Amino acid sequence: MSATVVATLDVDAIRTQFPILARQVAGVPLAYLDNAATSQVPQVVLDVMTRHYADGHANVHRGVHTLSHEASVAYDAARAVAARFLNAPSASDVVLAHGTTSALNLVARAWGDANIRTGDEILLTTLEHHSNLVPWVRLAERAGAVIKVIPLTIDGSLDLEACSELIGPRVKVVAFAHASNVLGTVTPVRRIADLAHAVGAIVVIDGAQAAPHLPVDVQALDCDFYVASGHKLYGPNGIGLLYGRAALLDAMPPYEGGGGMIEQVGFDRITYAPPPARFEAGTPPVAEALGLGAALEWLMAIDRTALETHEQDLLSYASERLGRLPGVTIHGTAAGKVSVLSFTLHGIHPHDIGTVLDQHGVAIRAGHHCAQPLMRHLRVPATARASFAAYNTRAEVDLLVDGVIAAQRMFA
Ligand code: ALA
Repeated sequence: MSATVVATLDVDAIRTQFPILARQVAGVPLAYLDNAATSQVPQVVLDVMTRHYADGHANVHRGVHTLSHEASVAYDAARAVAARFLNAPSASDVVLAHGTTSALNLVARAWGDANIRTGDEILLTTLEHHSNLVPWVRLAERAGAVIKVIPLTIDGSLDLEACSELIGPRVKVVAFAHASNVLGTVTPVRRIADLAHAVGAIVVIDGAQAAPHLPVDVQALDCDFYVASGHKLYGPNGIGLLYGRAALLDAMPPYEGGGGMIEQVGFDRITYAPPPARFEAGTPPVAEALGLGAALEWLMAIDRTALETHEQDLLSYASERLGRLPGVTIHGTAAGKVSVLSFTLHGIHPHDIGTVLDQHGVAIRAGHHCAQPLMRHLRVPATARASFAAYNTRAEVDLLVDGVIAAQRMFA
């Protein structure tokens, strides 16, 4: 009989790499459980960004001097890391966008305005974050297109039967999250991509909540666009990933215009640079790009199976402990969900839960999570949400549960 060796995550060693985890809030050690909003940043990322500003700060792709050359090489190397992270066929298929929201706006504007016409259908889902909803509704308004919505089943999964019925010949784009920021549901991207491609539609994936938890392979997923944010991937703000299928990026007009995205400029005619430069107008956030590259290297150096096992352990431990308390409803119970745990307490507003937890040093998010249609579907105005990352521990889950019990006592 052969023994299976299961790698475990050295959480103590990981924690020492995050300076912010040494901080106190409300006089006690911080328990940071708001990773779906923003994850914390390891020292290696901070070092790369500081070194850039202290020792190598210059604009990219614009100068012949040494600093500019070095910055350009480092910037291009960060793009190559991003391509490896996504398993994109080529680094030129990856635009370094400013984040998930700006990347989705870019696709809805650049691809959408060029391709969506009156009567076309844009298919979304009930669980979308506003960043993958507002740009498409605005596109539909501009083009006279029709928005259709894939509903959810009782556990918060996409209703695939309804999905097959909705994907008809008028559908030109299916845009949905790889993982829900509220329910944690992981969606069957490849299955839906196959249905969409069969009717000639493209597939746009909001990977903001999946990429920190699951290995992403855009070729295996067979999606046409995939976006994610640096600040949820242990990296800095203001930088994100936009993968686009090469043929689509090639055919796409630019979104923003300015320096760095052109070939020839005249007052009567402009020709544009090939992708990805065509979609990176102006001076890019260079330090942030370098920080993103370092963050992705950091994440890829971790055993992803061990990471997933660790996060799933925290999720099931927290779900079980919270679920045993009276008056707790957990929203989103789909199998295989990522480590995002939304809940409500009978008679207590989520903002009050968040405030009491903060007084216990526990940071969670409370609100509608930029997913108002989903809140309406759940028939709640808001939820409290704990979300777990590599550096979280069961002891922090215990603090969360203690804080929830304290809130229940306070509002009883
Ligand atoms: N999209 C982020 C969240 O769900 C901000 O919290």
